[in-house]
Amino acid sequence: MNEVTVPRPNNLDAYWMPYSDNRYFKANPRMIARAEGMHYYTPEGREILDGTAGLWCCNAGHGRREIKEAIQQQAAILDYAPTFQLGHPIAFEAAARIAEMTPDGMDKVFFTNSGSESADTALKIALAYHRARGESSRVRLIGRERGYHGVGFGGMSVGGIGGNRKQFSGLLPYVDHLPHTHGIAENVFARGLPEHGAHLADALENLVALHGAETIAAVMVEPVAGSTGVLVPPKGYLERLRQICTKHGILLIFDEVITGFGRLGTNFGAERLGVIPDIMTMAKGLTNAAVPMGAVAVRNAVYDAVVEGSPAGIELFHGYTYSGHPLAAAAAIATMELHRAEDLPGRARAIEPYWQEAAHSLRTLPNVIDIRDCGLIAGIELAPRPGKPTQRALDIFRRCFDEGVLVRVTGDIVALSPPLIIEKPHVDRLIGTLAEAIRAEAA
Ligand SMILES: Cc1ncc(COP(=O)(O)O)c(C=O)c1O
Repeated sequence: MNEVTVPRPNNLDAYWMPYSDNRYFKANPRMIARAEGMHYYTPEGREILDGTAGLWCCNAGHGRREIKEAIQQQAAILDYAPTFQLGHPIAFEAAARIAEMTPDGMDKVFFTNSGSESADTALKIALAYHRARGESSRVRLIGRERGYHGVGFGGMSVGGIGGNRKQFSGLLPYVDHLPHTHGIAENVFARGLPEHGAHLADALENLVALHGAETIAAVMVEPVAGSTGVLVPPKGYLERLRQICTKHGILLIFDEVITGFGRLGTNFGAERLGVIPDIMTMAKGLTNAAVPMGAVAVRNAVYDAVVEGSPAGIELFHGYTYSGHPLAAAAAIATMELHRAEDLPGRARAIEPYWQEAAHSLRTLPNVIDIRDCGLIAGIELAPRPGKPTQRALDIFRRCFDEGVLVRVTGDIVALSPPLIIEKPHVDRLIGTLAEAIRAEAA
């Protein structure tokens, strides 16, 4: 198990690493060379328990043979073919498989290569939908504070994270935001969906009053916000958002990039949370991250409005060279087959009570000020070190890694999202190591 044959890069200069403290990393590199099942391995062969499914994406666990073989076989059959005015069978099959997993009536699928591209695609489809129906005044896009929809200009603008925006001027015009739903005072240490905060959806009525419904195209939210530290929707909140959108002819977009593919114990968050959007984005778990791929599923009425409502010729002036890439499509089909054959959402549901209990056992540790969970996600919020926000969580992340456990931190929040194949001993090790690190970084 400990033998590795991967090369060890000895020059870290050229790679400008994404979302990273490049200077710190290059002085203190922490490398991952190999992965299998629930674990990563460093170049030295040290085992690291994956508490984050990579970046919320390897839901079926690492190195799955079925996915690897599907990619290998497809590479030998067709490396690449365009999907502009041409087609290849496996892309159609992948779309049909996705449509089987999405809520009824959301049977049309557009392929992208990432969550960011899915977010921008969803926003563009919303604009095209209204224009096709003769409502071209609907140009306004509504996001939510603390929302994350990737790094394209659309997703960044509609997203609600100041830190992601302040380096870049010139965001999209005609964007507004709902308040976030993180009510730590009323909902502290809530398990699952918190009780308080459904009324926060009513802020959409205020935006309608301010801007006029006839100017608003869509509202985009994550069913459970992950990147800003696991914000679980209050009971009744998404239902209310749905009602207000329907009342005013506004499209509701769920960004399911992390909540899709079993993370909440169902195929998509929409199913678990009982609210069906008009458009949903996905990526990450779609291919188990083995090949980059994203997708946008839309209600049939949205597709029909754009496609049937357009003059003959290209109906949507949008697409990527790699939309429906054969290797990604092969990986997606194999991944969805694994989800079905191994009932990965069911596995997540089965272990959720144990997971929840374990996560909430951290409550009494020093500096833990809140714990949240939903499905196989948990967020542990810590009091920041005085004058040094984010440092405590970063130190915990580094300490856990050095102790053989991968956690993710955002601000002073530890976010956990393990592969859905996790078993009780893994949960114990993950939470136990994290507990030790929280204690060790108490000062
Ligand atoms: C909800 C959500 N949307 C979009 C994205 C962006 O996905 P990508 O990094 O694949 O562009 C992420 C990534 O974490 C995400 O969590």
